[in-house]
Amino acid sequence: MTGYQDTFRASLDDPARFWGAAAEAIDWYQKPTQVLDSSNPPFYRWFPDGTLNTCHNALDRHIDAGHGDRAALIYDSPVTGTTRTYSYGELRDEVARFAGVLAELGVTAGDRVVIYMPMVPEAVIAMLACARIGAVHSVVFGGFAAKELAVRIDDAAPKVIVSASCGIEVARVVEYKPLLDRAIELATHKPDHCVILQRPQATAELGARDVDWATALTAATPRDCVPVAATDPLYILYTSGTTGKPKGVVRDNGGHAVALRWSMANIYDIGPGEVFFTASDVGWVVGHSYIVYAPLLTGATTVLYEGKPVGTPDAGQFWRVIAEHGAKAMFTAPTAFRAIKKEDPKGALLADYDLSRFGCLFLAGERLDPETLRWAQDLLRVPVIDHWWQTETGWPIAANLMGLEPLPVKPGSPTVAVPGWDVQVLDPSGSPAPADTDGAIVLKLPLPPGALPTLWNDDERYVASYLSAFDGYYLTGDGGHLDADGYVFVMGRTDDVINVAGHRLSTGTMEEVLAAHPDVAECAVIGVADTMKGQIPRGFVVLKAGVEADEAELAAELIAMVRDQVGAVASFKEVAVVPALPKTRSGKILRKTMRGIADGADEPIPSTIDDPGVLDKLRPILRR
Ligand code: COA
Ligand code: AMP
Repeated sequence: MTGYQDTFRASLDDPARFWGAAAEAIDWYQKPTQVLDSSNPPFYRWFPDGTLNTCHNALDRHIDAGHGDRAALIYDSPVTGTTRTYSYGELRDEVARFAGVLAELGVTAGDRVVIYMPMVPEAVIAMLACARIGAVHSVVFGGFAAKELAVRIDDAAPKVIVSASCGIEVARVVEYKPLLDRAIELATHKPDHCVILQRPQATAELGARDVDWATALTAATPRDCVPVAATDPLYILYTSGTTGKPKGVVRDNGGHAVALRWSMANIYDIGPGEVFFTASDVGWVVGHSYIVYAPLLTGATTVLYEGKPVGTPDAGQFWRVIAEHGAKAMFTAPTAFRAIKKEDPKGALLADYDLSRFGCLFLAGERLDPETLRWAQDLLRVPVIDHWWQTETGWPIAANLMGLEPLPVKPGSPTVAVPGWDVQVLDPSGSPAPADTDGAIVLKLPLPPGALPTLWNDDERYVASYLSAFDGYYLTGDGGHLDADGYVFVMGRTDDVINVAGHRLSTGTMEEVLAAHPDVAECAVIGVADTMKGQIPRGFVVLKAGVEADEAELAAELIAMVRDQVGAVASFKEVAVVPALPKTRSGKILRKTMRGIADGADEPIPSTIDDPGVLDKLRPILRR
């Protein structure tokens, strides 16, 4: 069984056999005797009686096999002028000691630890240390503001929070500690302790609950890996839903390890000892899966890059990293390539570097526009692979499987369904849509290992959000179609989730912030097309009767509120005061119609519209 079609069929015809075989690549304390537990649909469990430790599989196992000197993690930080390589042995020792720090602070198996950190090795060390002692980490992206962090603290209820004194952005040092303190103040749940990594760019003042990372590490006793059930949670990762409340995506230990190990070989064509460079952030799923877990589970070398594609200091940094560390493949978001293209349209900076060991570029996180695809192909002269997935799925749903059987690229398509994923397109009645016809992209249950088994403490929301639209299917929230060759075309979200520079955000969260302004009666935030960031949010507010606000002043206040409460990463920079918002007769704001008009589409006016005149007045503002 070598080709794509055979492998894909085998994975759907007999998932237990397929994933049972894949599980051989993982070290188990107790080998699972059952592969898939389907006894309680729609809740499925993979490897229900297996026990393992993810940290053991990511680190100790390679050392035990004699590879302790192999590079595990290369920290490359142009913003601090640092490069440091950790061998598997060194990384394991740091992780074991930090596991000791957590254990000595009272963290035991099943306890949650929130990690709010910039792109430093200590973030990875903290994640793996949790895995080592069976604790559940929840990494919160450093670009989120205090309020967003507070919401996550309340939901995850961590015993300990691990953070740093600061992160480094292009033009400024971002002090994390005041944001953390503010978040804890806002949250109802209080952690017992915060472990703070002091960075020289801005040191933080430590309070009674705080513990200094370096001091604690020196004093700690290293801990060994503890066996956990395959079905025990490894982490919770919050992602934007359509409401203001983020969804706590749960990842289990067993299915995750098996799926990621399989994906590394079959999708990314990366084996032990090879160098993989993912330019994302550990706060996103891409960072969890392909900066941290998949490369290390494989025994490969991962690059942790603290910098941006441009501006730190130039648009040649990706090429420098690839060349200096000998990366065989890199993974980033299309927006990063658009940013490079804007700064260096001819790719002149590439000439300074030797990319002879570089074999493939993987892009995901948002739709790969054909122009960016062509630019990257022409410049790099290696395969450029679009692939599609989500925080919830944990690894790619559709891809061109470079380690299995590379297929011809069709611009605009992330190629075909990955083995394990039964990708279908349904029309609103739930019938399969014909080829080339857009509909809801769904995944037939059971989802393969590695996909979310549920939402943290909220089975009901898991079912309501993903499984209730079409019985027996997981709703991806993306619309699109399959062509006659089975290629998947993902056209965009069908809900109010937006994607700004590869960052998934909820317009609902931004609306909650705007609605809290005393002058605002109602509001809508929509994502509109942007040539660089893919999408950016635009806000529309209706003032309360009798309010006569200075529009520019109000807009500035609202923009500052979103920056303060959601984070700079939302890139919320445009808000207009409008007389009214277009609605259906039942009072639902017609956001999709507004979005279509703003994007210049020939948007049909829904028959359910209450007052077409409202939309007519809004049209010139939307079109700008
Ligand atoms: N901590 C604090 N602030 C952060 C942050 C972090 N971890 N990450 C971003 N921000 C801030 C930025 O400083 C910026 O603030 P500003 O408004 O004061 O300039 C704002 O959030 C927006 O940041 P960003 O989205 O990075 O936009 P940018 O205009 O600075 O850069 C790109 C544009 C395209 C270079 C950048 O978005 C990028 O590298 N995107 C790739 C994203 C990616 O890898 N996504 C992961 C999915 S694979
Ligand atoms: P996230 O959960 O942050 O990974 O965001 C997932 C969403 O990003 C998906 O539901 C899609 O809307 C979008 N997305 C990710 N990858 C792609 C891709 N290759 N093509 C189109 N959209 C994508």
